[in-house]
Amino acid sequence: MEQLSARVRGLSPSGTIAMNQRARALRESGVDVIDLTVGEPDFPTPQAVREAAKAAIDEGHNRYTPVAGYNDLREAVSRKLARENGLSYPAARVMASAGAKQCVSNALLALVDPGDEVIVPSPHWVSYTELVKLADGRPVSLPTLASEGYKLRPEALESAIGERTKALILCSPCNPTGAVYSRAELEALALVLERHPRVWVISDEVYEHIDYTGLPHASPASIAGIAERTVLVNGVSKAYAMTGWRIGYLAGAAPLVKACIDLQGQMTTNASSIAQRAALAALESGTALIGGMQAAFRRRRELVMGLARALPGVETLEPQGAFYIFPDMSAYFGKSAGRSAVRGSSELAEYLLEDARVATVPGSAFGDDRCLRISFASADERLQAALGRIGESLARLR
Ligand SMILES: Cc1ncc(COP(=O)(O)O)c(C=O)c1O
Repeated sequence: MEQLSARVRGLSPSGTIAMNQRARALRESGVDVIDLTVGEPDFPTPQAVREAAKAAIDEGHNRYTPVAGYNDLREAVSRKLARENGLSYPAARVMASAGAKQCVSNALLALVDPGDEVIVPSPHWVSYTELVKLADGRPVSLPTLASEGYKLRPEALESAIGERTKALILCSPCNPTGAVYSRAELEALALVLERHPRVWVISDEVYEHIDYTGLPHASPASIAGIAERTVLVNGVSKAYAMTGWRIGYLAGAAPLVKACIDLQGQMTTNASSIAQRAALAALESGTALIGGMQAAFRRRRELVMGLARALPGVETLEPQGAFYIFPDMSAYFGKSAGRSAVRGSSELAEYLLEDARVATVPGSAFGDDRCLRISFASADERLQAALGRIGESLARLR
């Protein structure tokens, strides 16, 4: 429609949400679809967190909250960052928002001028490039290689930085690749960034607690030389099975956080009051309530990796964090079954939805058309059945 702005006309809808909606529609029409598109834990929110929300309703938390979030929630974030990450952010340098997604969006709107470039290591979460475009910036996708664990190398970063580079988005643990940057790897990137003091880092750490490395989580916000220019983004969605509650937070330099708060004051006012009370209970519980979920993800990772490795022609790296595998399926491109011809990841995802009744997300949505993203945030039996069905459908491709 011509009347719509160029801004929204250039926007790609989320590939993840599109496949998820198709799977949902099929299920509602009675088809037994196994949905592995989901980017959210399949567990209930912990009981203590739910109780806190119920109490918040009865206690009358029905009004607007401060724009940056309730003060005690900001203080809880500040304590969390000190306790779990060894970081010192006073509550005044913390903003609570409607999800980590809104935090990334606010940070980009606060930093990017028209034409500024934002480096996005690829494969990347679907929203980064679109959010950069919505901020009138130019996303610069920087491919990383499976053979290098899908991690950005310092030399690649150096060569991508130009006159207009304003920010680098890092996501560790990474959706979709499962890459987790070690402290040493971040330090090597920081050495490059030290030579480019105009470049900010937006560090998306929303999968912090879904990490199989056994190493302490490393944040660019803890690395001298870039700490002051890092916007740390995290939230309760993934760690506490609270995706629908919509609470994330960011922490950073005072003027940047103030700018994000000013933006929020005009755009959404504040995140839901009840969800903020729930997030406060979640953060105050530390990691006590999430051990069971972490153990389940670890077990499912083993299960899915075993099943995926047994699929002929499928190359997949063991994820170090998050709850996805991102297998290279390109061995099946150029093949067909009946009327279905598979030339790339979209057609393969389409074929698997039709033939195997398993919903996955095409890698093209994440900037790598050879791959599919398969979430293992589903019950073990469902995963087993799904990978079995995928195997049978792949075998029919000739
Ligand atoms: C890398 C990454 N960042 C942020 C988000 C969004 O998190 P939230 O629910 O806190 O907005 C997601 C959700 O899938 C994600 O995968």
